[in-house]
Amino acid sequence: MSIDLGRPGDFHVHLRDGAMAELVTPQVHSGGASVCYVMPNLVPPLDNVPAVLDYHKKLQAIDNRPKYLMSLYLSPNITPETIREAKSKNIYGVKCYPAGVTTNSAHGVGSYEPFFPVFAEMEKCDLVLNLHGECPSTGNINVMNAEPEFLPTLKMLHQRFPKLRIILEHCTTRAAVEAVKECGDTVAATITCHHLFLTVDSWGGNAFNFCKPVAKFPDDRQALIDAATSGSPKFFFGSDSAPHPLEAKTKGKNASAGVFTQNASIAYIAEAFHQSGNMENLKKFVTDNGKKFYKIDDSELGKETVRLVKRPNKIPEVIEHEGVVVVPFMAGETLEYSVEWV
Ligand code: DOR
Ligand code: ZN
Repeated sequence: MSIDLGRPGDFHVHLRDGAMAELVTPQVHSGGASVCYVMPNLVPPLDNVPAVLDYHKKLQAIDNRPKYLMSLYLSPNITPETIREAKSKNIYGVKCYPAGVTTNSAHGVGSYEPFFPVFAEMEKCDLVLNLHGECPSTGNINVMNAEPEFLPTLKMLHQRFPKLRIILEHCTTRAAVEAVKECGDTVAATITCHHLFLTVDSWGGNAFNFCKPVAKFPDDRQALIDAATSGSPKFFFGSDSAPHPLEAKTKGKNASAGVFTQNASIAYIAEAFHQSGNMENLKKFVTDNGKKFYKIDDSELGKETVRLVKRPNKIPEVIEHEGVVVVPFMAGETLEYSVEWV
């Protein structure tokens, strides 16, 4: 049995820099993606156009097979003029991290109003706004309700900037799925591999399953599976593959947030679809919907296509390069599907 998936896309990746980038960047292709949307939360954050272009060159030098869609990090350094410059250099969007919610988000956003002129220019230039949809923990807000608490902000931004394409990244709750459905066509959401498998019980006690936003309740996970398998153009694949060195996951206190899935990204999704008993809309989720939202044409991508085959796919215990060790999601387990480039 095999399924032709065309040229899939992974619309949310963390490729880091240095030795970690050398380790994980080639895995975009091995995982089965022709195109990926690259997050800008490096240290320092990529909040100017020359820094983004320089990073793009570095990624291409490591592996020029995928198309890298580049993004800027929203900070006070970004002005409407930056947006025009970004547009002229084929940068696709701007990622907004609320201050302090996750890895390298210290320079993120406190309040949204000061950025309205930036959002207005993005709407004009047709750049995408990628939202990390969580409110920072304070008072009664914590990792479990941080995403639902954010949803009024999503709706407010959509109402004020109705033509601005907005993506609620890595959505994790039924409430988020419903909110995205209620918005117009310019609002979509990415769904990761790991959130199709994990719930709160999976990460309490297992730092390798800990990420932001955290996995929620079984009912939330079901809503994500239903959204992903529905074929709706509003939902598409973004792995949020977020590698951290082994030490950062095992240091005891404050394990870094992030699950690494790049190595088998499409195979994990195939597994989740298979387990849900519905493979029908797999290609829509991993290939068609994201490219349509980002206005990517297949003629911009490499010649090869991905074939999904039913063949055991053993996830390694670790992957490593030059002393950097990363533990992948479901390490040591065997998936039912593998990808082949043809
Ligand atoms: O778990 C996460 N890890 N969530 C994010 O939003 C950032 C990411 C990272 O960069 O490690
Ligand atoms: Zn991310």
